[in-house]
Formats: sequence, C-alpha cells, structure tokens
Amino acid sequence: MAKAKTYYFCQGCGYQSSSWLGRCPECGKFGTFVEEVVKTSSPASAATKHGSTAESAPKLIQEVTYSETVRIPTHCAEFDRVLGGGIVPGSLLLLGGEPGIGKSTLLLQTALAIHDRKLLYVSGEESEQQIKMRADRIGIGGANCYVVSETVTQRIFEHIDAVHPDLLIIDSIQTVTTGDVDSPAGSVSQIRQCTTEFQHFAKATGVPVLLIGHITKDGTLAGPKVMEHIVDAVLQFEGDRNYGYRILRALKNRFGSTAEIGIFEMMSEGLREVPNPSEFLLSQRDETLSGAAVAATLEGARPMFIEVQALVSSAVYGTPQRNANGFDYRRLSMLLAILEKRCGFKLGAKDVFLNIAGGLRTGDPAIDLAVACSILSSNVDIPISPRICFAAELGLSGEVRPVSRVEQRIAEADRLGFERIFISKYNVKSLDTKRYKINIVAVGVIEEAFRALFA
Ligand code: TYD
Ligand code: MG
Repeated sequence: MAKAKTYYFCQGCGYQSSSWLGRCPECGKFGTFVEEVVKTSSPASAATKHGSTAESAPKLIQEVTYSETVRIPTHCAEFDRVLGGGIVPGSLLLLGGEPGIGKSTLLLQTALAIHDRKLLYVSGEESEQQIKMRADRIGIGGANCYVVSETVTQRIFEHIDAVHPDLLIIDSIQTVTTGDVDSPAGSVSQIRQCTTEFQHFAKATGVPVLLIGHITKDGTLAGPKVMEHIVDAVLQFEGDRNYGYRILRALKNRFGSTAEIGIFEMMSEGLREVPNPSEFLLSQRDETLSGAAVAATLEGARPMFIEVQALVSSAVYGTPQRNANGFDYRRLSMLLAILEKRCGFKLGAKDVFLNIAGGLRTGDPAIDLAVACSILSSNVDIPISPRICFAAELGLSGEVRPVSRVEQRIAEADRLGFERIFISKYNVKSLDTKRYKINIVAVGVIEEAFRALFA
C-alpha cells in the first residue's frame, strides 16, 4: 500500500527537502518551497503495469541490436524538420510555449493530419465539444483521431487500453494529476510523477507521447527542470503575438539537430507552414526609406533573409535611449560603441531604436553588419537599396569578420534576386565569385562598407 509523506519542493527547480527552507540550495531562489504530500507507492506503479520490468543485463556494444526505427511522419514539413524527420517511436516530447501562442492548435492539427495512425488527444483544458470546434475550424478530416477530456493519469491509461493509440497527446502536463501524489495539479511533484508515468508508458509500449507544457512569465517551462531531463526532446513554440509568425525550435533533441527551426503563420483556419520565409518577409518595402537593411542569416541549414530596421533620432532627454526588439540589447550597445569609437560617428547624443521585422529573432552573428548599416543609414538619412544584403560579423576594432557557410548565403541571395551582397574580405579567399550573378562586395572594416553605401 502507498504510504503518505510530506516533502518540501522548490517550485523553481524541483529540489526536494524534508524540511522547509528559505532559500533553495540548488537554484538559489528565495521563498520557493511548498509543502507537498507524496505517497511513496508500492512497486505496482505505472512502470511495472506497462511491463517495463524486462530483465536488464550488460551487453557488449557490438552485440546490441536494434531494428531500424521507423519515424512517424507528421505530414508537416516544418514540424518534421524540427523533429529531425518525424516522431521516434517510444519517445517523449515536450512542447512548451506561452498561453495562446498556438500549442493546442499545432498538436491538434498534427493529430488530424496523421490520418493513417490511431491517435488519442487527451485534453485537460478543453471539453470534447471545444476540441471539435477547433478541429472544424482547422478543417482537416482526422479519420483516426480520438479525443477525450480527462485529467487523471490512471483513467487516461484506461482510455489508452481501450483505444490502443499509435500516438498520445496530452494537453497539458500542468493539468493532469496522478493518484500517487496528493498535491494539486501543476505542482512540482505532480508534474514530475505524471511525466515519469508517461515516460514509462512510452518506453514500454513504443507509443510516442507528446506533452504540452506552459511557460511562466520569465520564459522558462513551468514546473521543475527535472521534466526537461526526463523527456527526449523539448520543443518551444514562440512568436510575437502581434504578428502572425510562429517559430518552432528544438531546445533539446535526442534524435536530431537543435539548430533547425520551423516557421508557421497563424491563420483563421489554423497554422500554415511557411516553407520560404525570406520571400515572405522581404516583399513589403519602400525604396526611399532610410534605416532598413537586409541580413542574410542562417537558421540551422536554412538561409533566412531578415530585415533590420533602425531609427536614429536626437535624444530628447539627457540620457539617450536604446531599444532593441528581436536583437540582443547588449550586442546593440557593443555595435554602437564600435561605430562611435572606430568610425567616429557621434551617436552618443542620439536615441537608437532597432527592430527585426516580422517579430523574428536570430542568434546568427552574421546579422551584425546589417544592424550597423541600418543604424548608419538612418543616421545619415540615406536609404539602402532593398536589393542589397549583408552577411558579416563585426569585431571590436571595427573589422568585418567572416561568417560560416558564406557560399550558401550568397547562393540564396542570388536566387532571391539580390544585386549586391556585402561580406568580409576574409570570406572571399576560398570563394569562386564567378559562379554567381550577384555582385559580391568584400570589405575589411566597417568604414569601407559605409563609404561604399553612402559616399
Ligand atoms: P491555442 O492553440 O489555444 O494556444 P495555446 O494552446 O498555446 O494556449 O491558440 C490560441 C490562439 O490561436 C487563439 O488566440 C486564437 C488563435 N487561432 C487562430 O487564429 N486561428 C485558428 O484557426 C485557431 C484554432 C486559433
Ligand atoms: Mg492550449
């Protein structure tokens, strides 16, 4: 029989203690400990119920055999790309994102699209009627999709025994509870225990489980970090609510790269895949406006051309304002310092606002030159032609530094019809420039780019 015991859990990281603590020794946060009652259950728990007690014995690695795992395609190229080519049988995936970003829509849409497998969509947040309304809105048939509104794991496993699905979706992990733990839904011990139960189920039966998880205000997945260790992949769905774009990223993926992203657009009838984001993002622009520059960035293996917009104006107050949207604020300060110190541009008395069009954000350092040139363009009020793009990093002494896979960026710029691309002169050495129609401008320091553009 189960024995009830009281523990204190840090709600931030899941640290467990037998007494209350003011400060968590693990994550250092104050006042995060909450008392939770945990029943230490007898061995007949989820693990054994689903037959995962198969004997284990050490083997030589050469003797370990496996059948070629056939991934389950999601019938959505963007989702498959992020997963690394489909859902791996027996895997446990976590999809995180802010409320209202479209997690339920994405997974319901996926469930409806995988018509050749039996699916079970368990919702702890919506009734079956509400799910149906959403499905009607999306407008895909979904011949083999079962839905149920349920929050208790034991009953979910009963439904699974009745339906025998090939894929299980839980919306969301914060709403499900297990009878083995006495604390409320969404608490650390509940989330940990429920996640573990689904993990045992997935490993024992080979049925992949997709969990939806909420994100707290500070941008981390609600619930303990321990959940991220249990699952095989952590995907994050993000985007600016004011724009239609949604980006799916893998923060962790045991079966694929974490560099790939998937791009979607939220429409009135569900999410639409955006296979070619560059063409989409660059279409609307007036040639006569200063302060805009296009960066040739790479997200994973895919080139993505994004527009950087800057506004430089005289500071009204004593302290000039700097504001960056979709770009690292400290990096902006650094670039401004470079422009000020190395190139002699007096930006100290100016307000600088920076915006990455479309609510996108990128970590590719190749965006630096476009950022610097957009600021300079706004400062001198001379527009940069929309048929020019940039791909280079900036060093602290104002040198234009080479970036990775420059051929791929140039080829894509060529394909998209750009006329000139600015790159580092250190990138040109290994390059066969005659292969491209596009005019390649190689620069060594930021001043050369400035002179080429505005002189
Ligand atoms: P939802 O999937 O419920 O978000 P989450 O599960 O992450 O909380 O999506 C919520 C938003 O998506 C909601 O504000 C309405 C919008 N939406 C559309 O614009 N079109 C649609 O077809 C659907 C289903 C939702
Ligand atoms: Mg939802």
